[in-house]
Amino acid sequence: MIHAFIFDLDGVLTDTAEYHFLAWQQLATQLGINFSREDNELLKGVDRMGSLELILQLGKVQLSQDEKLKLAAQKNTQYLKLVESMSSADLFPGVLPLFSSLKAAGIKTALASASKNAALVLQKLGIPDLFDYVADSNFIQNGKPDPEIFLTCAQALGVAPERCIGVEDAPAGVTAIKAAGMYALGIGEEQALTQADLVIPAVSAIDQRLLTRLLTM
Ligand code: G6P
Ligand code: MG
Repeated sequence: MIHAFIFDLDGVLTDTAEYHFLAWQQLATQLGINFSREDNELLKGVDRMGSLELILQLGKVQLSQDEKLKLAAQKNTQYLKLVESMSSADLFPGVLPLFSSLKAAGIKTALASASKNAALVLQKLGIPDLFDYVADSNFIQNGKPDPEIFLTCAQALGVAPERCIGVEDAPAGVTAIKAAGMYALGIGEEQALTQADLVIPAVSAIDQRLLTRLLTM
């Protein structure tokens, strides 16, 4: 039996994965590095400095730590400009009904986002209090694909990992969920999320029938 759902944020509950992509792409262009949507798949779920390192590797560019910190800050400024205009209308369809169903079924919920902007995005979406627990990425030592953030959520909820479902749109995130010993529900395309136990196109695909199936596994 499943007792908890642990959600990623960017690309699962709202389209901020696209904003991260646009902000990184602008930075890559400025550095003369070709950065495609396909390249971006590897960045999804990876923290800010880790993502920058991947882009620099792609362009075989070497920079000092100081320059890297400046570029990461610049990307974040650009990302925040995109987040600024967000509202509750940007919550993906089906998210609120899903949470109502989970609550009604006595299922606990947590947020496992690597983003230092997660609290701001939750506020913009009008859901600052939707979760029973929100992991603070500032206190997570090892980012996804390490299972730490998912295990931290499970522990805070008081639920054993094997009784948790992790919901992720990123390959690194799905790897983290599996490494935590949880059921991985992938959001997106099957070819990109090969390690997931089940892949669905969007949260809105979790209808009552699928939810019952998932909760009674
Ligand atoms: C999430 C996103 C990543 C992003 C990371 C850090 O995991 O999927 O694309 O790089 O958060 O986000 P931040 O807002 O802290 O730069
Ligand atoms: Mg994501």
